Amino acid sequence: MQKNFAMKVLVTGGTGYIGSHTAVELQNAGFEVVIADNLVNSEPQVIDSIGEISGKTPVFVEADLSDPGKTEVLFEKHPDIAAVIHFAALKAVGDSVARPLEYYRNNIFSLVNLLNSMKKFGVEHFVFSSSCTVYGQPDKLPVKEETPRKDAESPYGNTKKIAEDILSNEVEATGLKCIALRYFNPIGAHPTTLIGELPLGVPDNLVPYITQTAIGIRDQLKVFGNNYNTPDGTPIRDYIHVVDLAQAHVVALQRMAENKQRSPWEIFNLGTGNGFSVLEVIKSFEKVSGTKLNYEIVDRRPGDIEKVWADTEYANSELGWKAARSLDEMMLSAWNWEQALQKEKRNNRS
Ligand code: NAD
Ligand code: WQD
Repeated sequence: MQKNFAMKVLVTGGTGYIGSHTAVELQNAGFEVVIADNLVNSEPQVIDSIGEISGKTPVFVEADLSDPGKTEVLFEKHPDIAAVIHFAALKAVGDSVARPLEYYRNNIFSLVNLLNSMKKFGVEHFVFSSSCTVYGQPDKLPVKEETPRKDAESPYGNTKKIAEDILSNEVEATGLKCIALRYFNPIGAHPTTLIGELPLGVPDNLVPYITQTAIGIRDQLKVFGNNYNTPDGTPIRDYIHVVDLAQAHVVALQRMAENKQRSPWEIFNLGTGNGFSVLEVIKSFEKVSGTKLNYEIVDRRPGDIEKVWADTEYANSELGWKAARSLDEMMLSAWNWEQALQKEKRNNRS
């Protein structure tokens, strides 16, 4: 990957799962990284791990971006920030149904505060963490970027749709240049097992629940329904390795730095283009880990969609980026990470 010198990038939510992996790839590519995070869903030792992996410890500022004053101070202290990658958000779907106001406050206020500060300090490049959740259950598969968005299935999903609308309006009104990356299902961990997914409490997501079941933290995985209209009856998703996803952010930033954007508002689907069912993910895990997983088929989880996977043609051709890692590689990296966590007993966050 080409070297990018001196470009300072603010990575919000950078001690989180995807942000930390992206910070590593940004530093590997020669960007200078400043991380801002309020640690509501991550741990400060991630900063040292990023440093250990990439050979450079990023600047870290503990800050709540939903506070306009705290957000502005970031830009006062670092007037040479040239771009922002915005990961910081609350992302738990179920929790957002229970606490909608906190999700709208946190996720939308943080975005607006960032955009206000960027405008004040002349920062014009913004990469946004969006989600395939904006598509709901698509009528046609695979999903293209032009596939119409649907009503959000949760307050969390709605914050992503609203954020995309805020950004496209702001691009229209100002000189802001923005790339929205719609992630499908990020899973797995860095091969060093120094960083990975650190779910707080009982995991909502499939893969951390699988690895915590296999390592004995959870008794049994509940498979939410096998009566869907899919080959084995379980829902299908487009799982993508978190390192593949992280590397796409470097490519997006380079695209902006080299003025290669075709328009100041661009959207890319970040998936592999392959859909796998829950049972196929379990089978992959059992193969790479050599362990039998204890699971039981139960009723569907309300709000779950049946099947979704990305059409990656546009991201592949326009970004020149393609996800490279297989489902087996994703599951093995997740399992290695879980075992490393256990060794360090860092699972006491549950
Ligand atoms: P994460 O919870 O691991 O990371 C988010 C980080 O943001 C955390 O470190 C948290 O402490 C921080 N944060 C939250 N609110 C903040 C605030 N007000 N001020 C400062 N920091 C704040 O989540 P993740 O999985 O790394 O997701 C990163 C982004 O990608 C999120 O915007 C999420 O919505 C989006 N996304 C995630 C997935 C997924 O499956 N993980 C899928 C699609 C989109
Ligand atoms: C995957 C599949 C479940 C857990 C969510 C958010 C989405 C995005 C990614 C932020 C589904 C099944 C899961 C379990 C199971 N996050 N499952 N037993 O629901 O596709 O997407 O995370 O942007 O917004 O909705 O991911 O990992 O929760 O579920 O059977 O204990 O695994 O039914 O089919 P999902 P997931």
